[in-house]
Amino acid sequence: MRIRDISSFGYSGVLTELENIARKRGSYLHLSNCDPPIYGYTLDSSIIEQINQLQISAYTSYPSWNGDEDLRIAISKRINKFCNTHVPSDRLIMTNGVSESFPLTFAALFHQRSGSIAIPDPSYVPLMVQARRFGDVWFYTLDELDGWNPDCDQLVRSLEVHKETKALLLITPNSPTGAVYPEKILAELMNIAAQYNLVVITDEIYDSLTFGDFHSPLQYAEEVPVVYLNGFSKVYRLPGYRLGYIGWYDPTDRNTPFWEYLVQLCKAKFGVSLLAQEVAKLALQEPESHLKEFVTSVEKKHLLLIDELSKIEGISVVPAGGSTYVFPKLHFDQISDEQLVRYLLQEYGIFLTPGSAYGPSIAPGHVRFVTLVPEADLVKGVHALGKSLLDLST
Ligand SMILES: Cc1ncc(COP(=O)(O)O)c(C=O)c1O
Repeated sequence: MRIRDISSFGYSGVLTELENIARKRGSYLHLSNCDPPIYGYTLDSSIIEQINQLQISAYTSYPSWNGDEDLRIAISKRINKFCNTHVPSDRLIMTNGVSESFPLTFAALFHQRSGSIAIPDPSYVPLMVQARRFGDVWFYTLDELDGWNPDCDQLVRSLEVHKETKALLLITPNSPTGAVYPEKILAELMNIAAQYNLVVITDEIYDSLTFGDFHSPLQYAEEVPVVYLNGFSKVYRLPGYRLGYIGWYDPTDRNTPFWEYLVQLCKAKFGVSLLAQEVAKLALQEPESHLKEFVTSVEKKHLLLIDELSKIEGISVVPAGGSTYVFPKLHFDQISDEQLVRYLLQEYGIFLTPGSAYGPSIAPGHVRFVTLVPEADLVKGVHALGKSLLDLST
């Protein structure tokens, strides 16, 4: 489905209305806010101690446009370890959160050449908004009946129609579905990208937040050019420092104009906070055991949430493989997701985001839960959801 006007979903749609209701209401329980530190998920105390010893008044000069060399070298090593692929430090650029890498990437991609980008339905809202600023977008299906994996056949059929497509966007582990794409799907997606001459943009911000194996699309790229996006907000629990990065993998050097223009754009914005980069260098040294504790805690909440949701008639849910989300489906023709979340907030003070915010066709009829929330609040939220569905259907 090709979309020119995306105002019916995302921030300009129901999310802003919900924020207004919440503000007027005052107290409410947010069950869809993916901010690890507010739920007590922080770095290991040994790293926090070192952060607290930084002389914060020392980081006052301009940073280099692409980021601290030592940090980029450490990130390049991390990519090697996680993705089994070499992205050299001079092909990495630090950004103000992964969010800032979206407009930079799309601006460089659509510089001089028009075209469209294939994005998943459902999708992460800022990605949709930023992609649409710079090019046309169309949506390919994530198949709920197949564990929310991309429907590769449908993708190919759509690519036959949208011959102008330049890029394919992937998010794994996924937001908002929680799916972690298996190797077979990743290999198939990369074959498709090679066949249709696409650049792959992969957002892997939840990479080690998985309950089983994780494989990066980069591992299967071979000659496909890949824009690799990652950052420190989730796995390293540092969203307040606003730190992300773009990696550029293009072994055949066929897409040099993209990279050159991206470099120009980044040189024109003078880098990212020096202090945040110092913190990031320390975060990369966190003992793995602490990250494991974090992931184990999220998985435990995820299992509880799935169990509670499965007790409600008319709701089905695909268990997540990672990230901090589940995206249950509401099987009620007469109750829309937007009507439900409005009612939940007004009557029970529970804030959930409606599927309709995340895409045009597949996403509606769902709600998004975040699995960082304390267990008691998750249970409270699911009970309120059950009661709201009963209220609205009688
Ligand atoms: C898929 C995805 N990418 C990027 C971000 C935002 O990243 P950052 O905080 O680094 O801007 C999020 C936040 O929820 C996300 O879910």
